Amino acid sequence: MGTRNYIQFILDGEVVRESHLDPTMSVLQYLRERRMKTGTKEGCAEGDCGACTVVLRELVSGEIKTRSVNACILFVPALDGKELVTVESIGTPDAPHEIQKLVAEKHGSQCGFCTPGIIMSLIALQADDVPHTHENIGEALAGNLCRCTGYGPIIDAAKTMAPKAAFADNTEQLAELQHDDSVHLSVNIYGQDKQFFIPKTLEQLTKLRGEYPDAILLAGGTDIGLWVTKHHMTLTTIIYLGHVEALNHITQTSDALHISAGVTYADTVADLGVYYPDMDTVMRRIGAAQIRNLGTIGGNIANGSPIGDMPPLLIAAGAKLVLQGADGERIIALENYFIDYGKQDLRPGEFVREIIVPKTGEHQHYFAYKISKRFESDISAVCMGMSFDLVGGVCANVRIAYGGMAATPKRAKHAEAALENQEWNEANARAAMAALTQDFAPIDDMRASKSYRMQVAQNLILKAWLEDENQKVIHVLGPEEIEASS
Ligand SMILES: Cc1cc2nc3c(=O)[nH]c(=O)nc-3n(C[C@H](O)[C@H](O)[C@H](O)COP(=O)(O)OP(=O)(O)OC[C@H]3O[C@@H](n4cnc5c(N)ncnc54)[C@H](O)[C@@H]3O)c2cc1C
Ligand code: FES
Ligand code: FES
Repeated sequence: MGTRNYIQFILDGEVVRESHLDPTMSVLQYLRERRMKTGTKEGCAEGDCGACTVVLRELVSGEIKTRSVNACILFVPALDGKELVTVESIGTPDAPHEIQKLVAEKHGSQCGFCTPGIIMSLIALQADDVPHTHENIGEALAGNLCRCTGYGPIIDAAKTMAPKAAFADNTEQLAELQHDDSVHLSVNIYGQDKQFFIPKTLEQLTKLRGEYPDAILLAGGTDIGLWVTKHHMTLTTIIYLGHVEALNHITQTSDALHISAGVTYADTVADLGVYYPDMDTVMRRIGAAQIRNLGTIGGNIANGSPIGDMPPLLIAAGAKLVLQGADGERIIALENYFIDYGKQDLRPGEFVREIIVPKTGEHQHYFAYKISKRFESDISAVCMGMSFDLVGGVCANVRIAYGGMAATPKRAKHAEAALENQEWNEANARAAMAALTQDFAPIDDMRASKSYRMQVAQNLILKAWLEDENQKVIHVLGPEEIEASS
């Protein structure tokens, strides 16, 4: 096991090695400015529009994993060990890819600016080996804005594409890129020393964390990428978590899921959804596919944001955090991690290693709701998780947590107390709603006014009651059913 001073990845069949570049250069900049590959476009430079979508392929447990990501917020060193596939890798004007041809034939492109990103999202969908239903296509394209064509012809094209992607099998080439070396890039960019570390083991990470206490820990980079592209921050020392094996898996015990901090939303949603279907529903609305393919639950917690979607959902579920430092690990209740705005219970040298989520019990009722202006690709105004055991019609172990209502994600202790040991009925739901005014004094901001926030937070408790009460009566039509009935 050694240390490399370069990164290596595959681009258009060739292994590329890079040692001298700004470690915070985005893959989009790299493609357009270093490689003169201008097919990948820049729209927003903040992960929102999808114009820059590229596909990453990497070997995970012997299988090739293919995913769409936003090149504008991905730092180049995070490509280490992977294959980068761009719109120029898959076809040429003389020999376009099947999907490029279909989109053109079905008139799925007018100005064409969004089209390369759309093609790449469809390439990733095709590789996913899922049926090309309206719902799956919608999910794959939710992060790709097209302002002039309209989605009808694009979706028509997607529905007719071949069921499975025809990527050349380069398993061996990808395997050759994977070895035990850690990476240390050290460069001087315009007089500024910059370092990028890629540790492979928890021990290496813990040691680096101790040696460089001010280093930025980079997981998916869906927050950090914007510090550079939007806030123009200079990050001099970065430790990338993406290759630390121990941070990238989910294990199960009889009573809990142990989710390592570096696992992406995309790789967690199915496991959590088995026990928490409502959490599954909210998670599918976090960003869009490109964000969920990079972003991690660990990053969503560690950033300490009061409007991150996962903390309230996980606090309601009774989740715990495993924090690791040079002196070992400690386990805390997730709600205790959030001390105040911008202040978390993370000691110098520590990092978030794991999130422990209890499996739901036989009598447990769990609800999760996200309120935002758009259905997907939008930050919450309010997000709520609620859980209790219902035995003989009476609520016990009530946990209600909100994001967007205070300076941190927070439990609603008065509302919980109003329901604890009470019957689950409308009167008591309304009592909990009334108690909420003692728990929170929300603020006005661009996402919502304080009165809206309070009203919607209260109504989410009522919504939970109505859903439980009416679950046998109300059936919400999905896109497939709507399509079939029209
Ligand atoms: C277009 C777009 C849409 C988004 N939509 C949503 C949304 O709908 N809901 C939502 O909640 N968020 C959303 N986000 C925010 C972001 O995607 C999430 O917060 C995500 O979970 C961050 O995870 P990450 O792995 O990308 O973190 P990073 O950007 O890598 O890191 C975020 C912070 O956490 C720290 N960190 C990361 N991992 C660890 C660790 N293991 N230990 C200690 N510190 C760590 C980093 O140092 C940094 O301070 C969106 C972002 C974008 C760009
Ligand atoms: S340029 Fe808009 S998502 Fe990357
Ligand atoms: S074709 Fe013009 S924005 Fe999509």
